[in-house]
Amino acid sequence: MNILAIETSCDETAAAIVRDGQETLSNVIASQIKMHAPYGGVVPELAAREHIKAIIPTIEKALKVARTPVAKIDALAVTKGPGLIGSLIVGTETARTLSYAWGKPIIGVNHLAGHIYANWLKKKEPPFPLVALLVSGGHSLLVFMRAHYQFEIIGETLDDSAGEAFDKVAQLIDLPYPGGPSIARVALRGDGKKYRFPLIDLTPSPGRNREGFLEYPVPSLDFSFSGLKTAVLSAVKKEKKLSQSQKDDIAASFQKTIVATINQNLERAIDAYSPRSLLLSGGVAANRLLRATLEETAARRKLPLFLPEGSYCTDNAAMIGAAAFYQFQTQKRFEPLKNIVPEPGLRLV
Ligand code: KG4
Ligand code: ZN
Repeated sequence: MNILAIETSCDETAAAIVRDGQETLSNVIASQIKMHAPYGGVVPELAAREHIKAIIPTIEKALKVARTPVAKIDALAVTKGPGLIGSLIVGTETARTLSYAWGKPIIGVNHLAGHIYANWLKKKEPPFPLVALLVSGGHSLLVFMRAHYQFEIIGETLDDSAGEAFDKVAQLIDLPYPGGPSIARVALRGDGKKYRFPLIDLTPSPGRNREGFLEYPVPSLDFSFSGLKTAVLSAVKKEKKLSQSQKDDIAASFQKTIVATINQNLERAIDAYSPRSLLLSGGVAANRLLRATLEETAARRKLPLFLPEGSYCTDNAAMIGAAAFYQFQTQKRFEPLKNIVPEPGLRLV
């Protein structure tokens, strides 16, 4: 089954052709990073306008690179949400129009499911049950899956996402947008022991039961990154002007702490859910220290860890094509055109 997938939820205009949910025939991304960089973040209105310009050439290129004529496309897939409303409208309207004009069925996909399913692209299939860690610009989730398309959220962020924390800390120390790759780059030169930032653990303190015995609550799988960001802010404020090496040390110390926090919660999820495999995905999954740390954890726990290649971690359409395939396999139906509408606040479950 050849799926032409379209992704426009944020600032990448992307189209891909994916065969049977696993084989990427093409994966084209028109990135807007340079346009948004001067503003330090994505400007929604600009993003939507840019998608309008880029969407058709991107789809044409995806078909061309895959050497697949429209006649050989079996279905379309498009991201319905979550994401920026203006950006999502461009993708869903284009997909609806092509579906109607070409007479092809359509599958509306959740962007977060897409990130998780990046792990099925050209890979050995991850065995169920599994724990998936999704760390992106918009989300930080721990998801338990017993089978395809059965998502159970077992941990999530109460405030900022991991990607947001990277981006905001990068701003605090004057590093260019997007912050994740910038922090990772300068952290290589920095000393991660120079600054002590808090490792956030949301487990409530032990209480006493009626008999007066101490009772220990179940360890929390939720995340909170705003305190870590504030800790960096106060470290920055203490200095009059930051030298380059101080910035490098802050970046390294911050990266070390956020990776340790993410790893802490993943270890707890392994304890609580006894999965047969671990999955990592989302833009922050491109982070080398995070990948190495989770690889160590997986080896110690004797579990296979699945990580997408870097280009499948950040937003792309191949992951939407993979998710669409398994969604169709599970639900055995396409969606009526009227259901293909943007849902900016769409949840995974
Ligand atoms: O998944 P994604 O492309 O978009 C969303 O769906 O949100 O994630 C983008 C996020 C940004 O916050 C970016 O700073 C972060 O992923 N990111 C990284 C790295 N590459 C991208 N964070 C840490 N280290 C990286 N190497
Ligand atoms: Zn994303």
